Amino acid sequence: MDAEALEREGLAAAAAAISADAVEAVRIEFLGRKSAIKQALRDVRDRETGMTLNAVRERLETAIDERESVLARAELDARLTQERVDVTLPVGGQTRGSLHLITQIRREVEDIFLGLGYRVVDGREVETTRYNFDGLNFPAGHPARSPLATLFIDEETVLRTETSPSQIRTMEMQQPPVYMVSLGRTYRRDTPDATHSPIFHQVEGLVVDEGITLADLTGTLDLLFKKLFGEQRRSEFRTHYFPFTEPSIEAYVSCHICDGDGCPVCRHSGWIEVGGAGMVDPRLFEFVGYDPERYSGFAFGWGLERIAMLRHEFPDLRELWRNDLRFSRQF
Ligand code: DAH
Repeated sequence: MDAEALEREGLAAAAAAISADAVEAVRIEFLGRKSAIKQALRDVRDRETGMTLNAVRERLETAIDERESVLARAELDARLTQERVDVTLPVGGQTRGSLHLITQIRREVEDIFLGLGYRVVDGREVETTRYNFDGLNFPAGHPARSPLATLFIDEETVLRTETSPSQIRTMEMQQPPVYMVSLGRTYRRDTPDATHSPIFHQVEGLVVDEGITLADLTGTLDLLFKKLFGEQRRSEFRTHYFPFTEPSIEAYVSCHICDGDGCPVCRHSGWIEVGGAGMVDPRLFEFVGYDPERYSGFAFGWGLERIAMLRHEFPDLRELWRNDLRFSRQF
């Protein structure tokens, strides 16, 4: 047999194979049990012929293996191209999540005040009693200082019971004029019910400047009411007491159910309470080193859950954290 011709033929066949099956067929034809070379090797009588044939067989084997891996690689490339996932394609039928109602209201309130030129300030959820109580003029023995009302981490550290400590921190950090709001989570040792939660949210506001009066406060709150609850809502302010404001007021909004006529939701008063406010007590200015003769200011603190309930007319704030989609999808 002509070993050289056989080798040429085998190499050409391998090179011409264009699929894994075709390569396999070439392998069987040229190297299989019944191939010419195997037959010839079986019949070999002298060493030299044997060596030549074996060398041919080896070269053919290498060529066929190589061809096989080239084709396998090409096949893989083709498959990867074909099966490529287009991540820009729209996903049909998926429902999109949305921001939690409290987050929406939080951003809305921030936007209202940013529009008025206020700064949005971050407070701390873990506070010292110095900022949570002392700086805010809570007297020793005030019920809020009790571990029955407040969650203590150690004797001097609490989970803040209100966002008001951000007032003290802000004033310590900067000189007047101050126009700031601070929104976030607050904590109290309360048993959850329709209107209480041990974790809730507040918006704190603080303005300090020369010549700030109660009219600036009521005007600002009135504007906030209208933006949050609509133009037709009326607001009312009643005297109250907070350790950090003098005078202190409580803000009420006309009932969204009866519009002031009286109904069970507003306990027949026509009004619903939204939060506290007042003129900053001069003692706070002394605490942070502002001149109380020169500056005056107002502050307010409202619950975001309360705002949500009033605006969307649901009777139980626990709905906000129950994660029932039938509830959350409405917002
Ligand atoms: N911190 C008060 C509370 O949680 C709310 C409040 C009242 C905040 C009057 C104020 C304020 O800034 O001036 O009940």
